[in-house]
Formats: sequence, structure tokens, C-alpha cells
Amino acid sequence: MLHRREQTKRDVRNPRDLAAGGFYNEGVRILLFSGKGGVGKTSLAAATGLKLAGLGYRTLVMSVDPAHSLADSFDLDTDLFPAQTTDPLAINDRLSIFELNIQKEIKRHWQEISGYITSVLRTTGLGSVEAEELAILPGMEELSAMMYINQYRREQRYDAVVLDAAPTAESMRFISMPTTLDWYMRHIFPFQRNLVKAVRPIANRVVPFELPTDSYFANIRSLFEKLEGVDELMEDPRVTSVRLVTNAEKMVLRETQRAFVYFSLHGITVDAIIVNRILPSDVTDEWFSEWQISQRKIFGEIEEYFAPVPVKRVPLFRHEVVGAPRLTELGDVLYPGAEDPLAVTRTEKPYTFEKRDGLYEVRLRVPFTTKGEIALFKKGDELVVEVGTLRRHIGLPRSMAALTPVRAKLESPFLRIELKEMS
Ligand SMILES: Nc1ncnc2c1ncn2[C@@H]1O[C@H](COP(=O)(O)OP(=O)(O)OP(=O)(O)O)[C@@H](O)[C@H]1O
Ligand SMILES: [Mg+2]
Repeated sequence: MLHRREQTKRDVRNPRDLAAGGFYNEGVRILLFSGKGGVGKTSLAAATGLKLAGLGYRTLVMSVDPAHSLADSFDLDTDLFPAQTTDPLAINDRLSIFELNIQKEIKRHWQEISGYITSVLRTTGLGSVEAEELAILPGMEELSAMMYINQYRREQRYDAVVLDAAPTAESMRFISMPTTLDWYMRHIFPFQRNLVKAVRPIANRVVPFELPTDSYFANIRSLFEKLEGVDELMEDPRVTSVRLVTNAEKMVLRETQRAFVYFSLHGITVDAIIVNRILPSDVTDEWFSEWQISQRKIFGEIEEYFAPVPVKRVPLFRHEVVGAPRLTELGDVLYPGAEDPLAVTRTEKPYTFEKRDGLYEVRLRVPFTTKGEIALFKKGDELVVEVGTLRRHIGLPRSMAALTPVRAKLESPFLRIELKEMS
């Protein structure tokens, strides 16, 4: 029976309490499913949620994709059970889902800010509906999701929050948001506020619209407080892991590689690559044989590229994966046997980028390697590092793409590569 109910306090022993090996940490674990459009993020996030709930974890699957499809994935009748509420909707005793509704979030969190922007826009002659639409700024949805995560963490409401992210580009905005906001608070906010204080008495008489009031700034400050600490949560590999979903296709792989680098750049750990919709080998129809060959080839590339991050494979099912029974089936393939989806398997960041004394440095972990095994060259905006037969392509951030490697030092287990601007 599907019904809305209060989340009960933790009334079973958390299986992780029993986990050996020291990975257990108190508090929430966050799993973020990201990848190109249509690869299977929502299905895998939903399947993971069901699996976790089955293991006894209090689980929330939250959609941070404005084009929500979480409720559809569970095959819910959204007329009867509108998933877009301001509170999670219970699917079973341990599992809830939540699709953020940006309009409701704005009323709840962004009233002063969007009210001010709307009033400014209206002075340009826009109608109120258009002005309100335009006052939805990029990032509001993502930031709202983060506020909830922070709130649930404080309340210890869930053991696991599974995030069904929007396709890659928006996910990137999502993870860079706390840093952006932090920068804004430290550099722009104090300055702007003082400026407004100084000019308001005169400016209100000359400019055609009101300058922001104190409540506008109070709103920004309260948002900031609600977000406090969420960036640390995202960067802690014992809390947050990204599972990158891909298909064994060239174009999809390219985007997955870029996403991998971006997450690494933000200090967020990717702990699994999931290759979804692999054609099973018992499909023998000739029509698909080329697909099978190319998928095998790309799969090999995927394993090589992302090593040592584990690569999981999920076959193309005979049917669409919609509704709890099929999602459960998918979850069993994804986490076979006694595998715990919350297990922390990777705490090491694959590589780091740093700027020091005018030099840029890429630091890579290359354990069990001797100097003679390492080769290094630049190809386009990628740095290619060969360690024995293993080749790793490191997409450089835009600010470093034009640099040339000048020196590489092996300080086991790290390889440090210095890059410099050549004039
Ligand atoms: N392994 C699979 N076998 C068969 N069908 C699948 C498989 N994985 C996903 N699907 C189906 O593919 C479709 C797209 O999947 P899904 O909505 O999970 O992708 P998505 O990455 O979330 O897409 P979007 O970027 O639009 O949010 C769905 O109809 C889903 O049921
Ligand atoms: Mg989706």
C-alpha cells in the first residue's frame, strides 16, 4: 500500500553499525547519480533507493533535475500522489522520494530575493507573470536541494540521500554552487551592502526602481546560513560519492570523461562508473552484431580510462525499467549478492590541480610505479600520462589548457607534473 506517513525515528539497527573495516561514519551518506541525458540516471537512482530501503536504511531519493521523472520511474499516479510537494513522499516504510518544486521553494526560501528581482524587472515594462518567471535564477533549484540535504543531516532524518541529478552541465552547476555562494558572501556581499546603505537616501530619488532593502540582504544571509557546511559534506568522500552513469558509446563516453574530470576538480570523489544498457551476449540477431563489437571496444576503453575506479555493467533489459518490481530487479544487478550500496570504497581523489608560486601543478596518485614506466605528453587540452601500459587522459581545466608541462617528479606514490605558460 502506498501511503503518506511520518518518517519514523531510527527503529532498526543501522546495518552500517555492524560494518567492519572502519568505514562507518555517523550521519548521512550521499550518492549522486550523474551523466549525460537519457543514460539511465533516474532508473539507477531509484533502484539504489529501493535496494537501500530493503537493507534497512532510511532512504530518500531526491530529484534535482527540473525535468522530474522520479515519480514516473516508480510508476506513481501523480494525480493521486503528487510527488512535487514540500515534503518527501513515502514509498514504503524506509523509502521516500522528493521532487523539488521550484515555485514552492521560491515561496519558502527566496521570497525577498525573487520579489526584489521581480520588482526591478517590472520597471522595464514586463508583465508580472513574465517578471516572476525571469526572477527564477539559475541555481535556485540546486541550492534549495542543498538546503534540504543540510537540514536532513542536522535532523539525522535519513541514513542515505540518493540524488537523481540533471544531465552533466546542470550537475556541474550544482556542485560548484556552494563555492560560488561562499565567494559571493565574502567578497561582494559586504561591499554591496555598504554601498547600498550609502547611496540609498539619494538613489531612491533618482533611479526608477527601489534599491534592495535590508530584508533582501537578510534573506541572502539566512540562505547562506542554511547552506553552511554543505560544501564540506560534498567534498568528504566518506559522505558523498558520485556514481557516473554512461553507455558504451563514444559520444556518451566523452561526456563521462569530462564529468569525471570536473568532479575531480571540485574535489568530489567518483566511486563507480556504471555502464548501462549493454547489449547482452545472448542477443545473436545480426542487426546488433556491430553494436556488440563497438560496445565491447568502448567498454575496454572505459575500464582503462577510469582505472582504478571500478566499472560496473548493467545489461539492456528486455523491457523498460519502470515500477518497483523492475527497479528491484535492476538494483539486484547493480549491487549483486551482499554488496552494500553505501559502502565507502574510495576515499582517494584521483588527481588534484593546484597553483603554487606562479606554477601550476597536477598531482596524480600512481602507486607501484617506477620512473622508467612513466611517459607524459600533451594532446590538445589533455595531459596524457602513461604508466606502463596504462594511459590516463587528464582533461585540463580551461585556465590550464594552454600550459605546457615543464617538469615531472615522482615522489611515490605521487607524480607531480608542473605546467607553465610558455611565451
Ligand atoms: N538497463 C536498462 N534496460 C532497459 N531500459 C532501461 C535501462 N536503463 C534505463 N532504461 C530505460 O531508459 C529510459 C531512460 O532512463 P532514465 O529516465 O533513467 O534516464 P535519465 O538518465 O534519468 O534521463 P534524463 O537525462 O532524461 O533524466 C527509461 O525509460 C528507462 O526505463
Ligand atoms: Mg532522469
